[in-house]
Amino acid sequence: VYKYQLSVVSTSPTDIRLTWQPLSSQHSRGAITRYRIDYSALDQMDIMFSVELRGNETQFTLRELRPNQVYRLRIAAGTSVGFGVPSEWVQHQTIVLIFAPSELKVRSRVSTLNVTWQPSPNHTMVSGYKLSYREAEADGTSKQEGSSKTHTIRLRKKARHHLLTGLVPDRQYEVRVWGFNRQKDGEAAVWKGRTDKIYSRPSGPSSSPPLPPSSIQATANSSTSIWLRWEKPRFINVRIINYTVRCSPAGTTNASLVSYYTSSSLEILLGGLKPFTHYELAVRSNGEDSAGPFSGTVEESTLPDRPSTPPQELQLSALDSSSVLVSWRPPLEPNGIICSYSILFTVNLSEPEHQWRNLSEDGDIFSTEVNGLSGGTWYFFKVGASTKVGPGPFSSVMDVQTPLPTYELDVHAVTGIIVGVCLGLICILLCMCFSFRNSKSRSVLHMVII
Ligand SMILES: *[C@@H]1O[C@H](CO)[C@@H](O)[C@H](O)[C@H]1NC(C)=O
Ligand SMILES: *[C@@H]1O[C@H](CO)[C@@H](O)[C@H](O)[C@H]1NC(C)=O
Ligand SMILES: *[C@@H]1O[C@H](CO)[C@@H](O)[C@H](O)[C@H]1NC(C)=O
Ligand SMILES: *[C@@H]1O[C@H](CO)[C@@H](O)[C@H](O)[C@H]1NC(C)=O
Ligand SMILES: *[C@@H]1O[C@H](CO)[C@@H](O)[C@H](O)[C@H]1NC(C)=O
Ligand SMILES: *[C@@H]1O[C@H](CO)[C@@H](O)[C@H](O)[C@H]1NC(C)=O
Ligand SMILES: *[C@@H]1O[C@H](CO)[C@@H](O)[C@H](O)[C@H]1NC(C)=O
Ligand SMILES: *[C@@H]1O[C@H](CO)[C@@H](O)[C@H](O)[C@H]1NC(C)=O
Repeated sequence: VYKYQLSVVSTSPTDIRLTWQPLSSQHSRGAITRYRIDYSALDQMDIMFSVELRGNETQFTLRELRPNQVYRLRIAAGTSVGFGVPSEWVQHQTIVLIFAPSELKVRSRVSTLNVTWQPSPNHTMVSGYKLSYREAEADGTSKQEGSSKTHTIRLRKKARHHLLTGLVPDRQYEVRVWGFNRQKDGEAAVWKGRTDKIYSRPSGPSSSPPLPPSSIQATANSSTSIWLRWEKPRFINVRIINYTVRCSPAGTTNASLVSYYTSSSLEILLGGLKPFTHYELAVRSNGEDSAGPFSGTVEESTLPDRPSTPPQELQLSALDSSSVLVSWRPPLEPNGIICSYSILFTVNLSEPEHQWRNLSEDGDIFSTEVNGLSGGTWYFFKVGASTKVGPGPFSSVMDVQTPLPTYELDVHAVTGIIVGVCLGLICILLCMCFSFRNSKSRSVLHMVII
């Protein structure tokens, strides 16, 4: 039996290539006109395939075989008479096909890369994983390919992640992961990316934080609400999940007065604000696992409202029986510019408010004199403030009593009368004395005439 010099190699997972030496004439027993190749998979030996070739051929490639499968094959030479004794069976395994691991993900930090993956589909044929990494400057321009050393690490079959440490910050890396077995390395999954810059937070996000939104516009909607609208950042570097709005009264340094709201749309109605108050607003974008910086602030004031508290410190003092001085201070919460104060007063507390007498003063006046009152009477007063939106509440009622009228004498008039009377008496006395001296009888007569 002639021993064929057969060589068998796999060039791909589905191919086997045979090459052989042509038979010498002493073995051929005639001109070789053809060859026959028989083959079958070892697990299906009853299904035999045969191929016939011309006698001048010395190689043939079996195609469309199954990967990772043992085949047996033999060759026989034939003359015009017929085929001779075939060669012995030769066994050969097609190449194991190990797909690349799926879902290769890398979380980058300043000096580490946490590499995670899922097993390759043909996991059962894998006896372990290999991971290699090297510095890979973008475009390969700045560094020669050979200058960056490739490090390869063998990992267990069960390994699903590996932490690469001691890397250079802000440097491009290439990471490959592939399964292998005794015969062969599988296809590699490849990742390329950068380690974080040194100033990014060490425990911070893997990706760069999203940029703040643009074109932020605030519009007062009422005395307690402001509409805030914005647009997506001009450059989207990270998928934005939602936005955080910061709202604080302008110039506040008190952190407990700063409020935060979340919106997943491009607008929000901020409610529960204070009337006629200046607010500072800013918006930031939130990515999956990173929050961006806040935008610059925009400012807006809520609209004015009626005063929510009455004027303070109402004071009354009776000036005389017909006039009272009323004074007050502005309300604690004016909610706008006070344009007027109204002063209401009455003598009868059970009278409805519209029947009280009233006075009005400008918003910058804080006292007034009420005249034309009756003496010896109790008066009840209250004061209210108004903005251009409307009147606020009145202060609580205070009372005052005017004094009784007193009729005082004119000192000069009284003095004049007394002086006059005295002068008259003196005249009478003088006349009487004069008459006595002349004649007692006449003087008596004179006295009577006077
Ligand atoms: C074998 O012979 C055939 C027909 O003469 C020819 O077409 C073919 O190219 C030859 N093959 C080789 C490998 O010489
Ligand atoms: C790396 O990622 C894996 C999977 O997410 C996680 O279990 C592991 O704790 C991470 N290691 C580090 C150091 O972050
Ligand atoms: C895994 O290998 C088997 C056996 O070779 C093969 O039949 C199968 O198609 C492979 N799996 C995938 C997902 O290709
Ligand atoms: C306030 O918001 C409501 C509800 O969107 C809207 O109908 C109304 O026109 C707004 N008012 C102002 C003054 O913007
Ligand atoms: C900050 O504001 C809160 C709530 O209005 C208040 O209770 C607190 O006293 C304020 N703190 C300072 C330091 O002003
Ligand atoms: C906003 O997005 C962040 C990050 O994804 C998330 O944690 C948070 O629950 C979201 N908030 C709302 C109100 O949707
Ligand atoms: C006080 O006003 C009430 C209601 O107008 C009225 O019934 C009552 O007679 C008034 N009292 C006096 C003393 O005028
Ligand atoms: C004051 O009295 C006048 C006349 O009765 C009335 O028209 C006006 O509305 C009153 N003003 C207030 C603030 O009550």
